[in-house]
Amino acid sequence: MTKITVICENSVQIPFPVIGEHGLSFFIEREEGNTLFDTGQGLGVVHNLKLLGKDINSIKRVILSHGHYDHTGGLLSILKERKETLPVYLHPDAFLTKCAKLPNGMERAIGFPHDKSLYEENGAEFIETDGFEKIADGMFTISNIHHSEGWRPWDKLLMRKNNDDIAPDPFSDDLSLLLETSSGPVVLLGCAHSGIVEILDELSSKSNHSEFFAVIGGTHLDSAPEDYVEKTLRSLKKYNVQKIAVSHCTGLRIAHRLANIFGEKFSDASVGRIFEF
Ligand SMILES: [Fe+2]
Ligand SMILES: [Fe+2]
Repeated sequence: MTKITVICENSVQIPFPVIGEHGLSFFIEREEGNTLFDTGQGLGVVHNLKLLGKDINSIKRVILSHGHYDHTGGLLSILKERKETLPVYLHPDAFLTKCAKLPNGMERAIGFPHDKSLYEENGAEFIETDGFEKIADGMFTISNIHHSEGWRPWDKLLMRKNNDDIAPDPFSDDLSLLLETSSGPVVLLGCAHSGIVEILDELSSKSNHSEFFAVIGGTHLDSAPEDYVEKTLRSLKKYNVQKIAVSHCTGLRIAHRLANIFGEKFSDASVGRIFEF
């Protein structure tokens, strides 16, 4: 059995005093152990885990979807709650300097809030993954998604910095998770900065799954051009997705559209929501 509980997300729908924040985190329970996928931005993760009855010391591994602060910001507080060291899987580019170049010309740091060494001093054991990799039985990460020549993310604010050189972030670190469950393959997305369509295509070719039972997480579609939204709808149908639970950076406009199209197959993925497969 696979049980996924939403720990951090932008909205709260359950009548409990959990904390919502712009960020994402999922607690995944499987026979082989518990995994935390992303850590939110750090305001709610420890509070929400405790309130939702999850033992932080039971977490066997953390997997980070990319370096943005709203997915990595809670890592230090998780480490500080633990007695033992904690394996943390990520793509190596997640630690590169990330910033948002705002329309008024200002730059804002949006990467990991601390240096790698501080996490290591507090018990993190970073394990790098690149491409399609098996993490545990029935659990795979995919990152460094291939794109056609000239591709670049549509969110033009998101940059990567190397000393003084600033350029659009190619999101090689953008990592998604594939869980093989008794209902079928389930895909967890962080922000899907490298494109939900390309992620599902590459996952399908690498895993040999021609269908995905569920797609859950952030899709970053709010700022996507209309033709990409339509491409996404075709992709979700092509892969016969039976449960679509988009959240976080998807945006209400696109989430409502998907809810109208997918009907009963659509669910929000707000804090406290549980998905069982
Ligand atoms: Fe995000
Ligand atoms: Fe992001």
